Parts: sequence; C-alpha cells; structure tokens
Amino acid sequence: MSTNKVTLTQFIIEQQRGLPDASGTFTILLNNIVTACKQISHKVNRGQLIDVLGSAESENVQGEVQKKLDIITNDIMVNALNWTGHLAGMASEEIDGLIPIPPEYPKGKYLALFDPLDGSSNIDINLAVGTIFSILRCREGIEPDIEDFLRKGAEQVCAGFVLYGPSTMMVLTTGHGVNGFTLDQDIGEFILTHANMKIPEETSEFAINMSNQRFWEPPVQRYIDECLQGKEGIRGKDFNMRWVASLVADVYRILTRGGVFLYPLDNKDPKKPAKLRIMYEANPMAFIIEQAGGACSTGRERVLDIKPSGIHQRIPLILGSKNEVERIVSYHVE
Ligand code: F6P
Ligand code: MN
Repeated sequence: MSTNKVTLTQFIIEQQRGLPDASGTFTILLNNIVTACKQISHKVNRGQLIDVLGSAESENVQGEVQKKLDIITNDIMVNALNWTGHLAGMASEEIDGLIPIPPEYPKGKYLALFDPLDGSSNIDINLAVGTIFSILRCREGIEPDIEDFLRKGAEQVCAGFVLYGPSTMMVLTTGHGVNGFTLDQDIGEFILTHANMKIPEETSEFAINMSNQRFWEPPVQRYIDECLQGKEGIRGKDFNMRWVASLVADVYRILTRGGVFLYPLDNKDPKKPAKLRIMYEANPMAFIIEQAGGACSTGRERVLDIKPSGIHQRIPLILGSKNEVERIVSYHVE
C-alpha cells in the first residue's frame, strides 16, 4: 500500500509551479476556501448535536426560506475569506448585494462567488448537501462594482464544489482537468483520491424533477418521453432515473458514472422560469463538467458563453454526458 498521499495543498502548489506568472496568491486563497469547507463539513456532520438544523425563520433575496445552516455557512465563508488580502470582493447566494472586503483589510486580485450550502432542503433529512464556489480575476486594488462580477463563465480561473456526503469530497478545476479529493477526517487534510475525472460519454441515466413535467417546454418533454419509452422506444434501451435534489450530489454522480441533469425552463411560476443561478451554481458546474469531457447548455446556448445580467440571475441548466446534452440541444434547435 502506498503511503505517498498527495494533499490538496501539495497538488495546487505543484500545479501552480508550472505556470509562468504564479505568485502563490491563488494557492493561499484556495487554502482559505478549504479551511472554510472543513468548518462547514464539521457543522453539517455534527447536525442536531450542536443545534444547527431547522429553519432560521427568515428569507433570502430569492424568497427562499433560509435554514440556520444557510446563514451559518455563509458567515463561515465570508469570515474565512474577507481578511486574506487576496480578494477584491465576494458574492453569495444568501446575500442580496455584493459583499465588500472590510476597509481594514487589503484588497487582492480575485473575486469569489459561492453558494455556501447547496441543496439545503436536504439538511434536515440528513441527506447530501454541498458548497459551490467560483473564482474570477479582477483588476487589482479596486473596489469592484457589479460589472466587475458579471463576466462569462468562460473567464473563471477556478471552480469547485465540496460534497458533504458519506465522505466529504472536494472537486476542483483550474482549467487543467478535474480532480477529486477526499477529506481525511483524522488528519484534517483533503487527499487526492480521484485524479483526472472524466465523464463517460454514453449513459442511460437522467436526473430531473419529474413533478414539474407538465410545465416543461416541448424539447424537454420529448427527450424525457423518449427515455421513458426505454427498450421499446426510439432510444432502444432502458433508462434509470435519480434525483438527489442537491445539485452538488447530482453533479458528483454524473462525474463518476455519467448521466444527464436537467433543471429546464418551466412555466410553473411566470416570475421564475428557471431555478438555478448562473454565477454560483451553473457556471462553476459548467466549468467542471466541460473540463471532465462533458457538456453544459441552457438548451439554446453554452452556459459558459452567457454574459450574466445579474448576480442572482437564474438560467435553465442541462449538463452531463456530452452525447445526451447534444441530443437535448438538437431537440431545442428543431
Ligand atoms: O440550490 C437549488 C437546489 O437545491 C439544487 O441544489 C437542486 O438541484 C435543486 O435546487 C432541487 O430543486 P427541487 O427542489 O425542485 O427538486
Ligand atoms: Mn444551491
């Protein structure tokens, strides 16, 4: 058995060494995110023992009821990142406006966006939740405004998520493939366990909230209908369905065994035609999925090519195995 374990820190330092203008700043920033996620992992794991479950009886900017852990995890992220000197600003699912760096700290050359506790409706039923983050570059030393944040996903320098499941795992890309690290609780380090993750191209598994079926557009109706017809239908094979109701967990499954995830447009609530947010949900996941050989689209355009119009903008999201995503896109074109 090999004792040569590669920690996340070692992995990032070695990856950065290969880059001509790397200053080490990014490594430190990532380490601060890692520290925050370890704290979140600890809170999620302790659960009711430390009285963190249940509703906070407040709403976030998106009109969603906040869980106590939504607020706690947001505070953990902000407090772990605002003092470092490496960020010029932050944005979070839980906070309406931009999160400034307190005046007593220096400002750096990166912006961080995050969903501190994704899938938080799972928390009280003891199922998987996650943290998603996205890092953008920023002009150094400025007080960033909204326009500095509203950049295409293709400009991300790093994206990652942490899945708080049976194991706590971090999945990361800096644009050179996707790697997965498992938190070794005994030594408090993320260890490289899933090097160079690649999504299988062929799949027969889909993930969608079927309760919205009657509200979908025709291309999505057609795709799911064809999957459900199984062996007897045009696809000539049976499909399986999974829905964890946590984007992080559904994406992790797709990274490991393929499949396709859809949260498409629907006309259930005219004020909310799409559910997932581009800047801290869709974009980081799209970067990871593409780096793992998959595809990510709204059905009409590549997610990473979209110029966001707001920090909390929602978009339809279709991601996973390339062939399936391309098929769904082709149904939209037709
Ligand atoms: O953050 C939004 C989210 O919780 C995702 O993690 C998840 O994929 C989706 O919403 C679940 O939506 P629904 O509650 O409609 O199943
Ligand atoms: Mn979320």
